[in-house]
Amino acid sequence: MAKILGGIATSHIPAIGVAMDKGLEQTPYWKSFFDAYPPVREWLYAQEADVAVIFYNDHGLEFFHDRKPTFAIGAAAQYENADEGWGIAEIPPVTGETELSWHIVNELVENEFDITVCQEMKVDHGLTVPLTLMWPGHKYGHIKVIPVAINCERHPMPKPSRCFDFGKAIGDAIRSYAGDQKVVVFGTGGLSHQLDGQRAGFINKPFDLYCMDKIVDEPEELTKLSNYDLVEKAGSQGVELNMWLAMRGALQGKLTELHRSYHLPISNTGAGLQLLVTTDAI
Ligand code: DHB
Ligand code: FE
Repeated sequence: MAKILGGIATSHIPAIGVAMDKGLEQTPYWKSFFDAYPPVREWLYAQEADVAVIFYNDHGLEFFHDRKPTFAIGAAAQYENADEGWGIAEIPPVTGETELSWHIVNELVENEFDITVCQEMKVDHGLTVPLTLMWPGHKYGHIKVIPVAINCERHPMPKPSRCFDFGKAIGDAIRSYAGDQKVVVFGTGGLSHQLDGQRAGFINKPFDLYCMDKIVDEPEELTKLSNYDLVEKAGSQGVELNMWLAMRGALQGKLTELHRSYHLPISNTGAGLQLLVTTDAI
């Protein structure tokens, strides 16, 4: 059966991609942020994972406000990126994993998650920046990726508890797949940030650290929050925490937290990185 080795949660701020393309990782602004990533990369490379299932939110490259699926999953052999206007370069395509995608799709519909299935799908910085953070130089072509986009741009958006349950259903689907794939799940986005409006620039460090504590052993505490609670406590884009909750929902059993870091600000955001490992990977 396919195994889930663990989960990686990371912010996906476009400026990170620009900094990497310009080779700015060791400059004073960026150094302590980027210095957090090598231990997570080392774990990932040592595990020789085959598949990355990535929970992210599409910021308008594929789904704009006129048609916004609540939950969308890719079932393509390849995913293209394109210019989103953040100053990040267009980068090489991402490799898909169609068989496991379709297995997950079938299991989800069977379990009453009526998702949108995308046989063509452009992937934005929410997916590509974390991939490039894990494989610098955009060297991610060998890893098979299943993109899972959750709406957190336009109301109404799924609640934290629903995102957690959605992640759980995807985790169950992966574990029921008759293959020997080693899967890592990603949750990208967050932590607190607000990009516009009266509270533009709002960051809530105590709340971010609380979320990183709770997500390890008590994620149910976070699922009690509403999206309005998240907007109030973490800023209007802080609802991206829902991606972290979907990732956490996919993990099962006792977890070991192998890495955590938090750095603020990166651009407008409290930037978090966390690696949670299942007993399958120890
Ligand atoms: C920023 C953060 C994001 O999550 C995003 O999608 C875009 C921009 C920022 O802090 O600049
Ligand atoms: Fe974002």
